Amino acid sequence: MSSGRGRRLLVRDLAQLVSPAGRNAPVRGRALADLDWVDEAYVLCEEGRVAAVGRMRDLKPLGGDVEELDGSGRCAIPGLVDCHTHPCFAGDRVEEFALRASGASYEKLHAAGGGILSTVRATRAAAERVLAEIVLKHRGWMLRAGTTTFEGKSGYGLDRDTELASLRAIRRAGGLPTWLGAHAVPPEFEDAEAYLEFALREVLPDAAPLAEAADVFLERGAFTADQARRYLEACRAAGLALRLHGDQFTEAGAIPLAIELGARSVDHLEATGEDSARVLAQSDVVGVLVPASALFLNRPMPRARALVDAGAAVALATDFNPGSAFCESLPLVCSLACTQLGLGPAEALAAVTVNAAHVLNRADRLGRIAPGYDADLVLLDAPDWRYLAYHLGGRVVGEVVKAGEVVVHADAAELL
Ligand code: NIG
Ligand code: FE
Repeated sequence: MSSGRGRRLLVRDLAQLVSPAGRNAPVRGRALADLDWVDEAYVLCEEGRVAAVGRMRDLKPLGGDVEELDGSGRCAIPGLVDCHTHPCFAGDRVEEFALRASGASYEKLHAAGGGILSTVRATRAAAERVLAEIVLKHRGWMLRAGTTTFEGKSGYGLDRDTELASLRAIRRAGGLPTWLGAHAVPPEFEDAEAYLEFALREVLPDAAPLAEAADVFLERGAFTADQARRYLEACRAAGLALRLHGDQFTEAGAIPLAIELGARSVDHLEATGEDSARVLAQSDVVGVLVPASALFLNRPMPRARALVDAGAAVALATDFNPGSAFCESLPLVCSLACTQLGLGPAEALAAVTVNAAHVLNRADRLGRIAPGYDADLVLLDAPDWRYLAYHLGGRVVGEVVKAGEVVVHADAAELL
């Protein structure tokens, strides 16, 4: 580079630029709706980071080589962060989807050996190379929907080799891997205790260096609070951060356990009652809401408004998976947040950016457009950034920039 300043990208002539205000994380209560907002804006990216943000009329001439991206008619928001996905699975559950459409219950299908376990059978039968291609395909879907960072869980192997292959496939695709070793009890084990014994002895030592976090499905028909405690304590001792799937169908002690163990998040919360919501709000544990899953399973929505009003740290995620949420779109999740959860567009934005980044322990670099943060941006093809939630299921994402490079172009959303 002739400037000697390294790789630079100038995104210019943006109609609007919005970013969650301030620098701290997680953002709670009224502050969840606070935005930094610039009309007629530019963003200058250098070496993959945001170097400057401002109004076009204040932009000084830039010497040296600068790639330019025309932002006219566009609004910039931070690259979206999906803090809860299950992207590593083979096969699909379209048959089950059709059965549920005519009245079958998700929990009953699971209890009958279908559901999660049917995906486990398909995933075990796939070679690691195939799993890696599948995760890459799902990453492409997410990127086109504006997700520049994703967490990805294993949990469809539940044997040593497939769990480790899943974590490697997620990592290779650029995802942040979570070991969901306690997702279901596979059929070769007599009970949950016997399976956990195996998973903690045979899988955890090799999973821990590949993963950042561990997760458990604490639910009737899956793992009890005592089993979850045993699994999570062992994972914590191996250096992993802790997450829980909790209160999806029943309140079975996920919130108190998450608080007791210092978990990063408890996710789902469709069945959380008022008292537990108040307890969660007083804690440092983030409530990750996944309304696409509630919609897909025709379940009640979580009490998001009450959680936010009580001061809880709340994030939103897709829960992308083949059974309960075949949906990779955080813009759609923002629409659901505004239409079903009683949140405003600005609250939804903070929940899919800075607060989701906090769940992944990366809020110092992700989730905002401000100097020093990673240059991850979504340019919305819209005159107002709130189209993010307003354009229900529409093609609202124009270009996507990751680490200062354009990775999705507007036209055919072609990946570089
Ligand atoms: O987050 N509830 C547990 N796990 C996933 C669903 C997995 C599946 O149905 O394949 C969830 O909803
Ligand atoms: Fe999930």
